Amino acid sequence: MGNTGFSLALMMALLLLHFVVSFSTETTPNISTDQSALLALKAHIVSHPQKMLKTNWSTTTSICNWVGVTCGSRHQRVIALNLSSMLLTGEIPSDMFYHLSRLQVLY
Ligand SMILES: *[C@@H]1O[C@H](CO)[C@@H](O)[C@H](O)[C@H]1NC(C)=O
Ligand SMILES: *[C@@H]1O[C@H](CO)[C@@H](O)[C@H](O)[C@H]1NC(C)=O
Ligand SMILES: *[C@@H]1O[C@H](CO)[C@@H](O)[C@H](O)[C@H]1NC(C)=O
Repeated sequence: MGNTGFSLALMMALLLLHFVVSFSTETTPNISTDQSALLALKAHIVSHPQKMLKTNWSTTTSICNWVGVTCGSRHQRVIALNLSSMLLTGEIPSDMFYHLSRLQVLY
């Protein structure tokens, strides 16, 4: 099997896993679960020199106004994360991608 075949198989396996996990959780993901996922991500950051997220990612405003977060205009769910110039260090929580089920782009 070539690289392309392997990548495709891996992608299909991940997609299948995604659906299995989505259907087996009792809660339907929404903007609140997206917020929880982003707060979990924030909690996993060990180094953040610019401290941008510390005050900006505040629950007093919608996550759609948070720096680096883009929501879909129709469903108001997170579709893109751009954390690329924030010099972040930390681990991405393993379940983040299941919760941010509308996420399409991650920088
Ligand atoms: C999101 O889903 C949770 C759990 O299903 C529910 O309690 C909450 O009211 C929902 N929030 C919104 C904004 O739809
Ligand atoms: C967070 O940053 C965004 C984009 O720079 C800005 O529009 C928003 O007002 C900030 N929110 C807070 C609470 O600082
Ligand atoms: C990500 O954000 C940085 C800083 O705001 C910006 O310079 C860069 O162009 C953005 N990248 C994309 C692909 O939107």
